[in-house]
Amino acid sequence: MKKIKIIAIYGSPRRNGNTATLLQRAVEGARVSGAEVEEIVLRDLKMSPCLEIYGCKNAGECRLKDDFQKARDQVLAADGLMLASPVFFYTVSAHTKIFMDRFQSLWVKKYWIDATRKGQSNSSRKGLFIAAGATKGKKLFDGILLSLRYFFDVIDMQLWKALLYRGLDFEGDVLKFPQYLDEAYEAGRRFAIAIQSEIDQ
Ligand SMILES: Cc1cc2nc3c(=O)[nH]c(=O)nc-3n(C[C@H](O)[C@H](O)[C@H](O)COP(=O)(O)O)c2cc1C
Repeated sequence: MKKIKIIAIYGSPRRNGNTATLLQRAVEGARVSGAEVEEIVLRDLKMSPCLEIYGCKNAGECRLKDDFQKARDQVLAADGLMLASPVFFYTVSAHTKIFMDRFQSLWVKKYWIDATRKGQSNSSRKGLFIAAGATKGKKLFDGILLSLRYFFDVIDMQLWKALLYRGLDFEGDVLKFPQYLDEAYEAGRRFAIAIQSEIDQ
């Protein structure tokens, strides 16, 4: 049986913030289910924002050379992606957004160069998304979920589950909610099982 590979991406500038703590639990759960999990902390990477020069327009390869290429290859080689970001001004953190924007080079490859039709890809790769915000507004995650839908489309992933937590602000707030931590662990565990069972079919 092939061991499945999952990439876990920490998108918060806080190393031990709410989303990082939740993602760590999800990683533990996935490992218990037998997945090989590689972790990437975006704040540790040197990554320019997309400069919109479209150096990618002929080959779909980003012309800016930095830590993006290695992280991109890890994402593309994985069976699943676990991504965690805080809500910043109703969207993802800047670190997460920079990372997502650099995938525009893949969007160019997919839709301009390869002329893929929308909905044509039927990849079984899956994504688990975790977000936390301080307030409790109904629309708190609307912006993020829209961005995420188009990002996942580019990397040929289906959003398997989104764990969205309101009312978490200060570092450590999430520790007051053990049920959230248990839910993240369980989601990671089931995520790996879901990927494994699809691959084994
Ligand atoms: C720059 C910035 C923007 C933020 N914008 C929002 C926001 O729009 N809505 C909200 O509910 N919380 C907002 N917050 C609060 C964070 O989402 C919240 O503290 C979250 O728990 C942080 O997660 P982390 O510890 O994983 O970084 C913002 C915080 C910062 C620093």
